[in-house]
Amino acid sequence: MNNNDYLMYKKMVDEHLLDFLPKVDYKSVAVYDAMVYSLSAGGKRIRPVLLLAACDFCGGDVKGALPYACALEYIHTYSLIHDDLPAMDDDELRRGMATNHKVFGEATAILAGDGLLSSAFEVMSKDLLLYFDDANMLKSKIRAMYEISKGCGCRGMIAGQIADIEAEGKQCSKELLDYIHVNKTASLVIAAVKAGAHLGGADKETLLNLTDYAENLGLAFQVADDILDIYGNEAEMGKKTGVDAEKGKPTYPALYGLDQSKAKLNELTETAIEILSPYYDNAEFFTDIAKELAKRVK
Ligand code: IPE
Ligand code: IPE
Ligand code: MG
Ligand code: MG
Ligand code: MG
Repeated sequence: MNNNDYLMYKKMVDEHLLDFLPKVDYKSVAVYDAMVYSLSAGGKRIRPVLLLAACDFCGGDVKGALPYACALEYIHTYSLIHDDLPAMDDDELRRGMATNHKVFGEATAILAGDGLLSSAFEVMSKDLLLYFDDANMLKSKIRAMYEISKGCGCRGMIAGQIADIEAEGKQCSKELLDYIHVNKTASLVIAAVKAGAHLGGADKETLLNLTDYAENLGLAFQVADDILDIYGNEAEMGKKTGVDAEKGKPTYPALYGLDQSKAKLNELTETAIEILSPYYDNAEFFTDIAKELAKRVK
C-alpha cells in the first residue's frame, strides 16, 4: 500500500483518539477505563484511515474530519467489545489482549460499549455546533454523521450482527451469507468512505464511485477475515483462530471452500480497483490499500 499515507493517517487517528473522548466524572471512571483499554489495545484503524483518505481525496480538510474518524473508531471498537461477549461470539482475545469483559466483567464491558457508541455521537454533534454559520460545511458534516449513524444501525452493522448470531449452527444460504457480511462489516467500511467523501465535498459522480469501491472492499474485508480465522496466525492477528468453525458460524470458507473464497476475495479486490481506474494515480492510496487488505495477515 502507499504505506506512508496509511501510516500518516493512522498516526493522526492514534494521536487524537483519546483527545475527543468526553471527560467523565470520577464516579464513572470504571467504565472510562474499560473504554480506554479497548481503544488503546491497538487495531489497524482501517475505517478512520479510509474516512480521512476519502476526505483528502475529495479535497477536504483532513484535520477537520478527525472528530468523525475518531467517532467511527469508537463505534467499531464498541462493536468488537460487544461481539466478544459471552452472549455473542464469546471470545477471550482481542487486539492481542484479554477481551474487555475478561478484564472488567460483563456489565462494565456492556457499558463500555454503550459509552463508546454514545460518545461517538457526542463528539460528532459537538463538532456540528461549531458550524452554524457555515451552511455548506454544516450540510457536509450532517451528511457524514448520517452515513455513520446508518452504517452502525439496524439497517447496517446491527442487522448483520443479529443475522450472524441467528445463523449460528444452521444451514445458511449464499444469499443470507452475503446479507450478513455486507451488513456486519461492509456497512461500516462504506460509512467510512462516504462520510469522508461528504466531508471532503465530493461531487455526485465521485461519491457514487467511492461508494461502489467501498461496497466491494467492505465485503472483501470480511471474506479475508473468514479466511484468516482458519489460516491466520493467532499471535499475529491478536485474536483466536478456528473459532468460526467451532461455533458453526456462517463464513465464506464454510459455504464455498478455501479456493473459491480466495477467488472471491481477489475478484472483489479487482472490482474495487477497477471502479477507481478513471482517477488514475490520484486514487493510488485506495487501490494500494485494497491490494494490501486482500493479502493481510492480521
Ligand atoms: C475486525 O475488524 C472485525 C471485523 C469486522 C472483521 P478489524 O480487522 O478492522 O479489527 P481491528 O480494528 O484491526 O482490531
Ligand atoms: C465482527 O465479525 C463484525 C463486527 C464486530 C461488527 P466477526 O465476529 O467475524 O469478527 P472477529 O473475527 O470476531 O474480529
Ligand atoms: Mg461476530
Ligand atoms: Mg467475533
Ligand atoms: Mg471473524
